[in-house]
Amino acid sequence: MSDYLTVVDHPLVQHKLSLMRDKATPTADFRRLLKEITLLLAYEITRELPLTSQPIDTPLEEMDAPVLAGKKLALVSILRAGNGMLDGVLELVPSARVGFVGLYRDAKTLEPVQYYFKVPEPLADRPVIAVDPMLATGNSSVAAIDLLKEAGATDIKFLCLLASPEGVARMKDAHPDVHIVTASLDRELNEKGYILPGLGDAGDRMFGTK
Ligand code: URA
Repeated sequence: MSDYLTVVDHPLVQHKLSLMRDKATPTADFRRLLKEITLLLAYEITRELPLTSQPIDTPLEEMDAPVLAGKKLALVSILRAGNGMLDGVLELVPSARVGFVGLYRDAKTLEPVQYYFKVPEPLADRPVIAVDPMLATGNSSVAAIDLLKEAGATDIKFLCLLASPEGVARMKDAHPDVHIVTASLDRELNEKGYILPGLGDAGDRMFGTK
């Protein structure tokens, strides 16, 4: 564990992740498990949200009670698989604003190209959590964070289900200020850019497209 990467080794997270990895797990269960794990990971990634205090009356007396400070959290899904992580975070932080970043890989240059970008405004001064279940090569994650910074974000965290060592290294190189929280740092990428042991294509497994 480092300051840059947090692997959440909570037994419930690890048990649910093993169920998700199993290729026999059906789409509906995969989706539900992703939501449940995301909620647990969200608990970890939000632990440094700033607090202020506000006077309230309990039934017994007045007190200065801690409440979240500042602008509402911006939750940004990196399409399309990031959408499977939205509900888990929103269950914990219902008032979060939600944005979307769409990127595809150009077949010739292999570079990520933006096809959609819609985020809460202003993004500056807001805590931002970008979500994508698989941090594989890191190319799309780095490009998405580039876009969020261009849009003014200065406080960004990255939430994923699985990370590869290659993806973490790429992100750390490009965005050393972006803390990553994940359920597992897997062994490696294969030649096609899939994470090993991994869980396959997260988008296909959650949406049943293959
Ligand atoms: N994207 C996925 O969905 N799975 C991987 O293993 C790598 C990237």
